Amino acid sequence: MKRIINEMKLRLPAISVNAAVARSVISAFMAELNPTVDELGDVRCAVSEAVTNCIVHAYKLLTDGEIGYVYISARLYDNREVTVEISDNGCGIEDVALARTPSYTTGEYGERCGMGFLVMESFMDSLNVKSRPGKGTTVLMRKKLNP
Ligand SMILES: Nc1ncnc2c1ncn2[C@@H]1O[C@H](COP(=O)(O)OP(=O)(O)OP(=O)(O)O)[C@@H](O)[C@H]1O
Ligand SMILES: [Mg+2]
Repeated sequence: MKRIINEMKLRLPAISVNAAVARSVISAFMAELNPTVDELGDVRCAVSEAVTNCIVHAYKLLTDGEIGYVYISARLYDNREVTVEISDNGCGIEDVALARTPSYTTGEYGERCGMGFLVMESFMDSLNVKSRPGKGTTVLMRKKLNP
């Protein structure tokens, strides 16, 4: 049975500067497992994509003055597994399978390429996306680091 060796929870306003904050925090949090440069890069990139999605898509319907938040919760296990859950209370996704299709985007033409979920999927060992329209979205990802 794997055991948790460390965990953290973080709440950040959904503003663009916080994608970089989330990347830095996850790096510092994982350091305990001595990840390789590649492993660290993979997790940083996946976390960045998930947080950016909350910032760019989840709260686009909020009116001026309303603040949306991104919730990040991460765990390290004694089998060298890292799990990161990133969620929001935003607009949600009507069709998750469609949203996960490479090149699918609801972003402004030319601004986004619809590759975020593909990046998360390829850089992590598993990706689980749960969403309820009008309620929000939760992305759970795992990666097992090399021994
Ligand atoms: N947290 C979220 N809340 C609401 N909709 C989301 C969320 N995350 C993703 N989506 C929807 O899923 C689509 C696909 O996301 P994905 O990250 O793959 O591509 P993108 O964000 O559009 O482009 P890219 O990530 O390449 O800049 C988005 O265009 C958006 O419609
Ligand atoms: Mg994206």
